[in-house]
Parts: sequence; structure tokens; C-alpha cells
Amino acid sequence: MKKKLIAGNWKMNGSLASNEALLRAVLDGMAQQAPACDVAVAAPAPYLAQVQALTAGSSLAVAAQDVSAHEAGAYTGEVSAAMLKEFSVRYVLVGHSERRQYHHENDSLVAIKAQRALAAGITPIVCLGETMQEREAGLTEAVVKRQLAAVIHLNGHCISEIVVAYEPVWAIGTGLTATPEQAQEVHAVLRSQLAAATEQPDRIRLLYGGSMNAGNAAALLAQPDIDGGLIGGASLKAPDFLQIIASAK
Ligand code: PGA
Repeated sequence: MKKKLIAGNWKMNGSLASNEALLRAVLDGMAQQAPACDVAVAAPAPYLAQVQALTAGSSLAVAAQDVSAHEAGAYTGEVSAAMLKEFSVRYVLVGHSERRQYHHENDSLVAIKAQRALAAGITPIVCLGETMQEREAGLTEAVVKRQLAAVIHLNGHCISEIVVAYEPVWAIGTGLTATPEQAQEVHAVLRSQLAAATEQPDRIRLLYGGSMNAGNAAALLAQPDIDGGLIGGASLKAPDFLQIIASAK
């Protein structure tokens, strides 16, 4: 049976001192509870070396928050998949709604980023989800299917190596969470879309993200097609993050 994946997304938060305190607390807690799930933290790029050093030899995986769509060259400010790989990065977020919204990333760019990650041996966590406006217009299914279709189209059979994170935009950082039933409904749609593209759709982990916290994680993670969580705010507090990890059986 596949293990669930709990991934923290620190976003643009942290400092050398606070990262160290947070990571030490998370690592201590993980050593005590021996998690049944896989665990990762996505740190800002300048801190990847620090996270790599502090987590070396542990089961806490290093993740990055973005990757360039280019391989190398004159792309000021960009970080390539090969560079991430040098810092033991195991997962990278692609297409997070904050990148789509503030950096105008579209479906085809996100698909290329997923491809770059896969080519470097890094698992892309493909983020997708609808806005409140789209949900209210009855477009949720169409939007998430379009976002996933672009990644499937470009990556073909490699699709079995990705992770998908369904994050309704209206639930991110708002304290509003999709109900377990709402999340499951979308996850089931994504699962059947993956089934048409790969022979082993059940191998692919589908995470839920959007105000997941210590209080609501267990109910969300109990849904049949929810294979983990992508956690923003609550991943910055060790006790909360550890509680979510403990909920992922
Ligand atoms: P949140 O963020 O848990 O703070 O809502 C989730 C995310 O953006 O990945």
C-alpha cells in the first residue's frame, strides 16, 4: 500500500535561526512517533542547503517551492532542476496557485516545470485548484481537469511518477477548508482522469491542501482518494505539523 505524504510548504517564511528551531523540533517529534507516512518540507531556495544539512540521515525529505522551466543559461533569478538535485531535493512544488496568480504561470508552463523536475529525478508536486468564482460558476471539475490535462499531455507515461495536490484557491491561507466530502469529490475526478492516462492511477498520491490543520487533518486524510496533505501555515508550527503527520496513517 502506498504511504501517505505530508508536505509542509513554508512559502516565503523563515530565517536561519527559526528554520533550525523548527526543523529540530519536527525531527525530534518524528523520531518519537515513527511516522507511518512520508514527510517533506518545501523551503525557500536559499535555505535548501541548511535543510539538506539538518535533515541528512533522517526520513524528512527536502522539497523546493518552484523550479525553472529552463535547463540552464541566461535566466536571471531562476533555479534549475539540476541545481535543486544537488541539494538532495526530492520533491518540488509546481503550479502553486500563488505562482499562477502572482507570477502568471499558465498550464503549459506548469507542465514544462513538471517535465524538468522529472528529467532531473525530482518528483513534481503538481498543484491545481479552482477559485471561489469558478466554484460558484460550477466550473470546479472543468478547471482542475484542464490543469491536470496539460501535465498529462506533456509528460505521457511519466505521469505515474508525479504527485498531485488539489488546493482550492479559496481555501489557501483563509481558514476556509473544503469539507472532506468536497475534497473527496474532486479527488475522485482527478483519479479517474489519471486512470485514463496511466495503468496504475492508484500509485499516484493525491494530496489535499488549503487550511489543513491539526484539527481537520484526520477527517480529510480518512477519505479514500486523499493520500496526504500540502500544508502551509500549520507547517510553521512544529506541534501542529507533527499532529498532522500523526493523523496520516
Ligand atoms: P495553507 O496553505 O495551509 O496556509 O492554507 C496551503 C498551501 O498553499 O500550500
